[in-house]
Amino acid sequence: MAFDEKKVKELMDEAETALRGSDPLEAVCRLLRDRVEHYDWVGFYLLDPERERELVIGPFAGEPTEHTNIGFGQGICGQAAETGKLFLVQDVTREENYLSCSPEVRSEIVLPIFRDGGLVGELDIDSHRSEPFTMLDTVLLEGICRMVSPYL
Ligand code: SME
Repeated sequence: MAFDEKKVKELMDEAETALRGSDPLEAVCRLLRDRVEHYDWVGFYLLDPERERELVIGPFAGEPTEHTNIGFGQGICGQAAETGKLFLVQDVTREENYLSCSPEVRSEIVLPIFRDGGLVGELDIDSHRSEPFTMLDTVLLEGICRMVSPYL
């Protein structure tokens, strides 16, 4: 099925259902990775309760990564945590501050997740395609971040 507004709506509805089951965050990762062709790694990074200004990996779907702890400012994830803003990289070869998880990854989008005005984590998506992300991804993923925020 094409990645269009209808599919975005469907995925939001399915994410809502997934959040009511067990392992809600992992279920959302699996849903997005399985259903969106250009999502190859989908995962959450959480604020590390042990260390200041550091992210620790949370539930994810895809290949395990060596980047389980990421400091603020490091890589795309750390930069998104530092600025509190969505960070979209359509071609990772052009981003100098980038932590590679796999040579197959071509692009990445990271969205900070807030609760009660404070950063609680991030949603990180890697794609093996170059320049795959559009406004539809932003709409879908911002919606997902709002939905999952109470679960982080
Ligand atoms: N590429 C990320 C590291 C995390 S992996 O994509 C799972 C970064 O540059 O922060």
